[in-house]
Amino acid sequence: MSDVKNESKSDGFKILIVDDNELFRKTLAGCLEKKKYLVSQAVDGSVAKEIILLDKFDLIISDIQMPHFSGLDLLQWVKERQKTPVVLMTGFSQALETKKAHDLGADDFLVKPFKDAELQEIVLKFVNAGLQPKEKVAEDLDPQFCKVSVENFISEKETEHTIYLRISKSKFIKLAHKGGKLSDDRIKTYKDKGILNVYVKKEDFAQIVAFNIQVAKVLDKSTSISNEKKMSFMKHASDLVLEHAFVTGVDNEAFQESKSFIETSMKVLTDDSEMFSLLNALSTQADFIYAHSLGVSTFSVMIAKQLGWTAPQTLFKIGLGGLLHDIGKKELEKVTLEKPRALLNQKERTSIESHTTRGKEILETVKSVPSEVIAIAYQHHENILGTGYPRGIGRNEIHPLAKVVQVANIFCEYTVKHTPGIEPISAADALAKMEAHKIDEMDKGAFKALTQLFKK
Ligand SMILES: [Fe+2]
Repeated sequence: MSDVKNESKSDGFKILIVDDNELFRKTLAGCLEKKKYLVSQAVDGSVAKEIILLDKFDLIISDIQMPHFSGLDLLQWVKERQKTPVVLMTGFSQALETKKAHDLGADDFLVKPFKDAELQEIVLKFVNAGLQPKEKVAEDLDPQFCKVSVENFISEKETEHTIYLRISKSKFIKLAHKGGKLSDDRIKTYKDKGILNVYVKKEDFAQIVAFNIQVAKVLDKSTSISNEKKMSFMKHASDLVLEHAFVTGVDNEAFQESKSFIETSMKVLTDDSEMFSLLNALSTQADFIYAHSLGVSTFSVMIAKQLGWTAPQTLFKIGLGGLLHDIGKKELEKVTLEKPRALLNQKERTSIESHTTRGKEILETVKSVPSEVIAIAYQHHENILGTGYPRGIGRNEIHPLAKVVQVANIFCEYTVKHTPGIEPISAADALAKMEAHKIDEMDKGAFKALTQLFKK
């Protein structure tokens, strides 16, 4: 779009700037006047009201926080009387006000600190389109966001990513720019105001996970595993997940999200030589066990997210638990493992069932394995009735993460190619079987979350 066109359109376009900070207000006015807009200024909301009663504006740009009559008060007052679009200047510390402003009908937001180009762009939208529909805020953004608990930002002083606030089902607005400072005080204010989650773009999520894993000091050493070895391991993992663990009918977005989450976790984990050898042992033993483990990991993460568990550390632990839950099988005879369950004799059955205790022992020798992951390996064949193995513990004793992995494990035994010669069944059949035969043994919430993954 040429400048000439902009200028001719901006001719006569009247803007009211409302901000109690004089320097900021004047700078803003200067920027807009340069583009030939007709700019008026108000030092606060109540002065703005007086000016609006005397003159008609095409756009109002207002700060949120002002003495006497705030930006929110002004917004409400304007919207009750006229259709003039109102853009509010907001920031990370004003999350609650921003959400309220959206509900009150704010037409757009400018996130402080903003550049001249951002200001011009937003004003031009209103110049070009007259009254800009509010939906534009959402349409402009990629709808692929991931929820991140505010807790997870505590240790991150500087935001590595642009952070969004969700203001309605499909609307996300920018709350903090990449590189902005995020103090503990702001986080505290956030939590005090009841905002527990913010959003980041999907592509940033994996980095946040990796960051959090490092912060959690799950790994305390790095070794010289060749990149080539890691790459081939990762490719093998990806191929297996895509080939085997994808179950027709599952919410594809949730599946891809969990898959990339697990891949990121694995990339971080392969920096640890002991962890790498565990994962590698699993992947080289038998593809069907590895595919099953990747399936259990992916579905465990999906179920956890469906349950509303968002903390990357929790998702990481459950994903890792899913991957390593059957690690105790790595020492078992392949012939026994490949035998259909019904054909196992007592000795073989006992040997198979020892994989939970053996898994616990193996994982306990690896320093970087979190205790929850050990609990998952040890308890994933327990059930809430107390009739599982190895200990027959019940509802109150089974670790919550193990309850989720138990459900994912049963589901993947049905749906992911598991025992050679036995074909997997469809998700619908598997869910029906689980409901008919296993419902009392499973955590109801986890099972419900699993079924919801197939309803989207
Ligand atoms: Fe198992």
